[in-house]
Amino acid sequence: MQRLIAFDDPDGNPIEVVYGHPHDHTPFVSPRGIDFVTGDLGLGHVFLFASDAQRSAEFYQSMLGFRPSDTIAFGPTNAVFLHCNPRHHTVALAAIPGFEPGIGHVMLELSRLDSVGRALDLAMETPGQVVRALGEHTNDEMTSFYLSTPSGFAIEYGWNGRLVDDDSWTVGHYRSASTWGHQVLADVPSAVAVGADDE
Ligand SMILES: [Fe+2]
Repeated sequence: MQRLIAFDDPDGNPIEVVYGHPHDHTPFVSPRGIDFVTGDLGLGHVFLFASDAQRSAEFYQSMLGFRPSDTIAFGPTNAVFLHCNPRHHTVALAAIPGFEPGIGHVMLELSRLDSVGRALDLAMETPGQVVRALGEHTNDEMTSFYLSTPSGFAIEYGWNGRLVDDDSWTVGHYRSASTWGHQVLADVPSAVAVGADDE
């Protein structure tokens, strides 16, 4: 049996909830020899610009069943990070003046750091492709860099993301998004959609 419902979040971002999604059980083989960290952790995570991060977070929690991971000081209000499986966050929401609601970046996680490094080598061959330098995040401890895409949002390409155990997890707050790195390399909206700069 397959079922799908479609609706919008408070900012009009379209969401589809599906049951019985078909797949052929054939393992994906990357032409570049990359193993993506997916499975029960899902595709990765999405960082959304929101008009009101707390209002959107309440929707994702009360309507869709997400749980809070932590918050980061980001602009005038906090960015909110939410999880729906052991991945640290599947949705992040931040209200930044001047940025319309929508996708800031999508994160894809790789199983090996050298896969991230080789992608960085490749991306560096195109001027302007890398919008944030390699760095490590405070909250999910992901080592990653950010690439621009033709659609305007960024891809975060990372390794070693932290997992959440709901039995022992304590919701925290961070004053900055990165412990090191993640410097802005391109003045584009997708470069902002990472987290707060170090204070
Ligand atoms: Fe991210």
